[in-house]
Amino acid sequence: MPNQSVLILDFGGQYKELIARRVRECHVHSQILPGSTSIEKIREIHPIGIILTGGPDSVYREDAPHCTRAVFELGIPVLGICYGLQLMAYTLGGNVEPCTVSEYGRTAMQVDPACPLFSGLDAAQIGLMSHTDQISALPEGFNCAAHTDTCPNAAIWDETHRLYGTQFHPEVENTPNGTQIIHNFLYLVCAAVGDYNLLDISQRLIQEIRTQVGSEHVILGLSGGVDSSVCAALLARAIPGQLHAIFVDGLMRKDEGDEVEAAFQNRKLDFIRVQAQDRFLTQLSGVTEPERKRKIIGETFIRVFEEEAKKLREKYGRIRFLAQGTIYPDVIESGANHSANIKSHHNVGGLPKDMEFTALVEPLRGLFKDEVRAIGRQLKLPKALVDRQPFPGPGVAVRIIGELSEEKLAIVREADAIFRQEVQKYRGRKPDQYFAVLTDTKSVGVVGDFRAYSYVIALRAIQTSDFMTAVYSPLPHSLLSRVASRIVNEVKIGAGVSRVVYDITSKPPATIEWE
Ligand code: XMP
Repeated sequence: MPNQSVLILDFGGQYKELIARRVRECHVHSQILPGSTSIEKIREIHPIGIILTGGPDSVYREDAPHCTRAVFELGIPVLGICYGLQLMAYTLGGNVEPCTVSEYGRTAMQVDPACPLFSGLDAAQIGLMSHTDQISALPEGFNCAAHTDTCPNAAIWDETHRLYGTQFHPEVENTPNGTQIIHNFLYLVCAAVGDYNLLDISQRLIQEIRTQVGSEHVILGLSGGVDSSVCAALLARAIPGQLHAIFVDGLMRKDEGDEVEAAFQNRKLDFIRVQAQDRFLTQLSGVTEPERKRKIIGETFIRVFEEEAKKLREKYGRIRFLAQGTIYPDVIESGANHSANIKSHHNVGGLPKDMEFTALVEPLRGLFKDEVRAIGRQLKLPKALVDRQPFPGPGVAVRIIGELSEEKLAIVREADAIFRQEVQKYRGRKPDQYFAVLTDTKSVGVVGDFRAYSYVIALRAIQTSDFMTAVYSPLPHSLLSRVASRIVNEVKIGAGVSRVVYDITSKPPATIEWE
């Protein structure tokens, strides 16, 4: 039996994925489609509820994105959020105008507990507001369900037609009872039964893999990242003995190659670890330009991958199936219909067109990252692998500014390992991503009675929720100075390190990685 599903129609709001995740956290399946999705397609999906996202436009502008009025006439409950609320009101004959006072941030509001959205909640609530337009006249049949000091219609409802809307964002943490409001919409309005849970999902995925693949063999490009690792563990469970995971090792952090290998040692798959560090060094000799480095690394990955795939073809005959750890945000970002193409934004720059694979196995393509991590935990992958911070496809190569060398790889790995150890011990708020960078600058230092001329290491630690924007992490000076002292004293490789600096730039204008 398929799960009940909620359809999220996207009008360009930055929180669409957050809405989808909140719904899933309430044990109801959700999917996101463009706001322009046809009414026939919506009927086909048969959602138990529809949520209209926010968006940056003004509904009364000529080219603003709209949906057809029929969305509100299907008899399916609708919840409009921010722009979605305004769109619903405007489409059904209400009036939307610029606010006299725009509202941004956490805002006090009075809600009507008779409205099912607010069932069980006090009348005084806080909602995250972010709007410059508001509803000045309600459509026929609607009532006000919440107001703030300046916004007369912070929530609205038409009980008869089961149409609801909030000007504030219930999906964000800054609306403290937001999840309860979404839960109320799902369970009190849409009659959800809560049939979406990850244990069932992984069982179903395993079945689907078996049905798709039968007795054939499958190749997986394993980067050691969360997505491909969970994909490997799931496939190993589904088709023991038929999976060949190719792990190209050479630009990983300290000990990481061994950790990845250990994680897959006792699983029923053919784990092929290819030592490619020397090959990367040869290919990158004399290359300093970041984009060129990335391209060469991508190409090298592909060549190693092809060579291994070819060896396998000799033994097992032609292997049709290629598995990838594509997840739902990848699918959303690359447009809805991606099923026939090999992932174009693959970690290492795309897979070669001339490979003989004709079918993709992408068991995680409906899941969000936190769901993928949860499945990884169910499948007993080591915590370090499941909770791993993001790591760029080109690995530590983009954390060594300029030309690579064996010495530089060793220095950056040691410095990074020290930084990681110290951050892991830190009990305050941990950064979302943190690493060491080997700059191409040398500086003078004193070691004992001698002058040293050694490398400068930069530490990068950031806080972010989406990695699109980031601020530097305000790690305590005591921690930073301990890391600096340990790096300068303990990294005794080649020229060594004479100085450690901390990167305090935000993204934008900087990026998270240095290259
Ligand atoms: P930037 O440096 O663009 O990085 O601010 C944003 C996030 O993406 C990661 N990153 C990559 N991930 N392949 C990846 O899979 C790559 O080539 C790549 N480059 C950067 C980076 O670590 C950060 O989390």
